[in-house]
Amino acid sequence: MRQIMVLNAKGGSGKSTIATNLASYYATQGKDVVLADLDPQGSSLAWLEERPAGRPPIRGVDATTKGARLPRSADLAIFDSPAAVHGADLGNLMRRADTFIVPVLPSPIDWRAAEKFLEEMRRNKRIQSKQAKFALIENRARTYTRVYSDLDERLRRQRAPILTTLRDNMNYIRAAERGLGICELAPYATATDREQWQPVIRWLNSKRSKPA
Ligand SMILES: Nc1ncnc2c1ncn2[C@@H]1O[C@H](COP(=O)(O)OP(=O)(O)O)[C@@H](O)[C@H]1O
Ligand SMILES: [Mg+2]
Repeated sequence: MRQIMVLNAKGGSGKSTIATNLASYYATQGKDVVLADLDPQGSSLAWLEERPAGRPPIRGVDATTKGARLPRSADLAIFDSPAAVHGADLGNLMRRADTFIVPVLPSPIDWRAAEKFLEEMRRNKRIQSKQAKFALIENRARTYTRVYSDLDERLRRQRAPILTTLRDNMNYIRAAERGLGICELAPYATATDREQWQPVIRWLNSKRSKPA
């Protein structure tokens, strides 16, 4: 089973938004998806509770408890993770997946924290030995702003792929409300967002995101 984790020690960077959108995307592709929530806040599981019955199903797992089992028959597990994970906790968390996505917001407080966090991630043995891969997403961007170009410049100095820039848009809020992903909203209203997700999907489907 493929295991993908969205993580960043900073709260509010878009982990749950990205985890739920990934789960929704793969479910609409006919995959058997487990959404495993490692965050005691339970945002991903709360999202799943809102999911209408007629939509492609996603299996939720509360992964906060030790020994929480994932159904092995699933095609993939998407892990949502809590904020403020560092040190040994981060190491333990990172054992549970082989592909990591780190969302970062365009704000100095966020990118400074992200730089430190990425340093810590890079020291991880599985990352060093390429048994696990990670990449970045610039999230909630207003691309015409100075602070966005500053973020982009800072992140480009990191030795990690930047998969995409997701715009700051109400579609994410509307989808979250209803237990849906943006790919399940009206196509005409979400064309830009769908397009912005394409490189993420391409990366996840390519060897570049998989253990060497
Ligand atoms: N691209 C986006 N556009 C608009 N709102 C967003 C976007 N990404 C996240 N949000 C909103 O930002 C807030 C924090 O996102 P969330 O996914 O909960 O972050 P985290 O899980 O890292 O704490 C939520 O209210 C979410 O709806
Ligand atoms: Mg969250």
